[in-house]
Amino acid sequence: MQDLTIRVMRPDEFDEMRRVSVEAFGEPAIGTLLDALRSSWAWDADLCFVATIDDEIVGQVLYTQSILDAPKALEHVLVLSPVGIRPDLQGQGIGTTLITESLMAVAERPEPAIFLEGNPRYYQRFGFVAAGDLGFRKPSLRIPDAAFQVRRQPSWSNELAGTLVYQDAFWLTDSVGLR
Ligand SMILES: CC(C)(COP(=O)(O)OP(=O)(O)OC[C@H]1O[C@@H](n2cnc3c(N)ncnc32)[C@H](O)[C@@H]1OP(=O)(O)O)[C@@H](O)C(=O)NCCC(=O)NCCS
Repeated sequence: MQDLTIRVMRPDEFDEMRRVSVEAFGEPAIGTLLDALRSSWAWDADLCFVATIDDEIVGQVLYTQSILDAPKALEHVLVLSPVGIRPDLQGQGIGTTLITESLMAVAERPEPAIFLEGNPRYYQRFGFVAAGDLGFRKPSLRIPDAAFQVRRQPSWSNELAGTLVYQDAFWLTDSVGLR
C-alpha cells in the first residue's frame, strides 16, 4: 500500500493510537486495557508499533512483557495484544505488514517466545503455532486450545516450558479468554 509506514509509536501519539484500537475492535474496553498496560511494568515504549499513512495512525500492535512460570526459574516472555487496524482499512494487508515488520523489529530481543490468543488461521502465517503442542500451559481455561499460540524467537531454547502468566492489566480489565 502506498505510503504505509511501520514504526515505533511516539509517546505523544498514545491517545491517537488508543482511538484507532478502540475503533478497530468497536470496544471501549480495549482502551482501558491499553491504559492499564501503559501504566504497568509490562510496558516498553519500544514495543508499541503503529502503521501510518501520511503520518496518520491507521493501525497498532502492542507487545508487552509477561512471565512464563517455568520449572527452574521464571522466564520473561512477550505477549502480542492488542492488534487493530482502522475498520475502513481492514482486509487490505496493513495488519499483515504491521505484524511482519514489528516481529522483525523484536526478533533480537532476549525474550525467547511471543505468546498470543487469536485465530490460528490468521496468525500461522507469521510463524505462530499451537502453544499447547509445545507443552505450554495457557493462563486461563477460557482460552480455546487452538487460540493459545506461540512464536519461537531466535533466542528460543527447546527446554523452554511452563505456564504463561498474564500481566495484571489483562486480568483487571477482564481481557482474558472467551466469556
Ligand atoms: C485482525 C486484523 C488486525 C487484521 O488486519 P487486516 O489489515 O484487516 O488484515 P490483512 O489485510 O493483513 O489480512 C487479511 C486476512 O486476515 C483475515 N482476518 C481479518 N480479520 C480477522 C480476524 N478477526 N480473525 C481471523 N482472521 C482475520 C482475513 O480473512 C484475511 O485472510 P486471508 O489473507 O487468508 O484472506 C484487523 O482485521 C482488525 O483490526 N480486526 C479487528 C480487531 C481484531 O479482531 N484484532 C485481532 C484480535 S486477535
